Parts: sequence; structure tokens; C-alpha cells
Amino acid sequence: MPHILSKIKDDIEVSLQDLLQDYNWSCPQLADAVHYSVCGGGKRLRAVICLAVGEQLGASRSDLMYLARAIELLHASSLVHDDLPALDNDDLRRGKPATHIAFGEGIAVLAGDSLLSLAFRELSFIENLQQGLLLRLFAETSQAICEGQVLDILTDGQIDNSGKGFAVMTDLSQRTIDNLVLLTTLKTAKLFQCTIEGAVLLSPGMGEGAEDVARQLGFNLGLGFQILDDLLDCYAPQADIGKPVGSDAARGKYSYATMQTREEGIMQAARYLQEAHESLGRLLPSDVVISSIIKSLQDKLALI
Ligand code: IPE
Ligand code: IPE
Ligand code: MG
Ligand code: MG
Ligand code: MG
Repeated sequence: MPHILSKIKDDIEVSLQDLLQDYNWSCPQLADAVHYSVCGGGKRLRAVICLAVGEQLGASRSDLMYLARAIELLHASSLVHDDLPALDNDDLRRGKPATHIAFGEGIAVLAGDSLLSLAFRELSFIENLQQGLLLRLFAETSQAICEGQVLDILTDGQIDNSGKGFAVMTDLSQRTIDNLVLLTTLKTAKLFQCTIEGAVLLSPGMGEGAEDVARQLGFNLGLGFQILDDLLDCYAPQADIGKPVGSDAARGKYSYATMQTREEGIMQAARYLQEAHESLGRLLPSDVVISSIIKSLQDKLALI
């Protein structure tokens, strides 16, 4: 990991701790569950990318930090809810008991809601004139995650989705690659897109061209990232990923690893990561931080 990457990650870690410490909590039990869900684990990939993009493009550091914190809080909220019995029913997250195992389901649901509220609160501190646009982008991203997660649970072989009035993706005819790309774009890539496009919006003198490239980079990185995650769920030793292995297959989930061969998944992830690298070259030709993140994902893929 280049020094600059670990320095940005440390800054984010401290900043998230401060935020939770300084908040005027009335309920210490909720404060504990939120702190547990955010701190002590997590690669902070999206926050690091946000700061690295914005700093290279001349955005204000304090505005970027508000956005980076908001993104990590939204991400943590989505993970707490993702692990609940009603969704993936996973007991382990970041090498520790998931929030609902540590605090109970009710508190985990509310900790996820609290994390989302705190995320929007962070955005209220942004001073840049693009704050309104950023708020809309962020709200639509949060909305996209919900839509992607609904599509995701509709493909869950363990949950009875009959009679819900949806185009039920447990029906094998709905399990097309286009539907998988849509589901993955919504649940994962939109947040990467928001991270990069948001940092571009906060940077001076950036036009629509840069926003388009930001969205392409976020899409390619998000798809490459989620395909790798799906492959790791099927093929990684548990100690490597800090969460259960084999959970997607056990639930009959529709993923890039369960719907096709390992080799096909590896090839798709490699192609998206290569395209991410090319989009990055168009947005930030002399970047070293994001390219080292892409390289580390490519290295993990090579070990599958
Ligand atoms: C996990 O994301 C959720 C997916 C989109 C696959 P990360 O692997 O970035 O989670 P943390 O924050 O590092 O734990
Ligand atoms: C991504 O999907 C989760 C969210 C977008 C919240 P997964 O369900 O595959 O993520 P992990 O594997 O539990 O981290
Ligand atoms: Mg999930
Ligand atoms: Mg999950
Ligand atoms: Mg997964």
C-alpha cells in the first residue's frame, strides 16, 4: 500500500471516530451500536477514493471529508441491513459478529437508519455551491442501493417471494446477465459512481465531460469490485475476507460466481478492472492512489 493511501485511510479513521464522539447522543446504546458498525474494520475504499480524486482536482479538503464520511456512513448502513436475517442472514462482518448478532435485530435495524441519518447530516455541512446537486446525487444513490438490494433478495432461494407482485428473479428465465448487471449497478456501482462524481462536483472548473468519465470509472470499478466479492464468497478461505464463505451459494443467490464458471467470473472482473484503469487514465492521468487500489483488486483476483 503506498504511503499516501495509508495516510488518507488513517485521516478518515480519525475523522469518523471524532464525528461519532462529538455527536450529542441521547441514547448511549444506539451510539455503541453505530460505533461498532463503523469503527474497527473496513477498508475505507470509497472514502479514500473520494479524497484522492477531489484532492488531485483541487477540491476543498473539509468539503471532501464531509462527503467521504457521508459515503462511509451510508456504506456501513447498507452493510448492517445487508447482514440481517431478512436479507443475507450473515453472522460475521469485518471478522466480528454482525451488528444484529452483537446488539440484536431491533437495534441493528435502527443503527442502520441512524447511520443513514448521520450520512445526510454530514452533507449539510458542505459549503460548496454544488451542495444541492450533491445532496440529490447522494439521495438517489441511497435509493439505488435499496432498489438493488430488493432485486438481490428476490433472487434469494431461501425467501418466499411468491405473490409479491414483482418480476420474480428466482424464476430462472429472469436470471439473465442483463438483470445481474442491473442489480449489481444499483446495489454496488452506484455508490462508487457517487463517490467519484461527488468529488468531481466539489472540484473547481470541472465540466460534464469529467462527470461522465467519473461515472464510467465508478461503474467499472463497482462492477469489478462486486464480481470479485462474489468470487471470494465462493472461493476464498474465510480468514481472508472476514465474512462467511459460501453464503451466496447456500442461499441460492444469483451472483457472478453462482451463475457461471469461476473462469468466466474471473474474466469479467478482469475486464471491468482493466476498463476502470482506462477511465482513470482519462480522469486523472498521474494518479497513484486509485491505480494502486485497482492493482490490489487485480492481485486478489489473480489468487482466485
Ligand atoms: C462490501 O464492501 C460490500 C460490497 C459491495 C461487496 P467492502 O468490501 O468495501 O466492505 P468494507 O467496508 O471494506 O468492510
Ligand atoms: C453488497 O452485496 C452489499 C451491499 C451493497 C450492501 P453483498 O451482500 O455481496 O456484500 P457482502 O458480501 O455481504 O459484503
Ligand atoms: Mg447482499
Ligand atoms: Mg451480504
Ligand atoms: Mg458478497
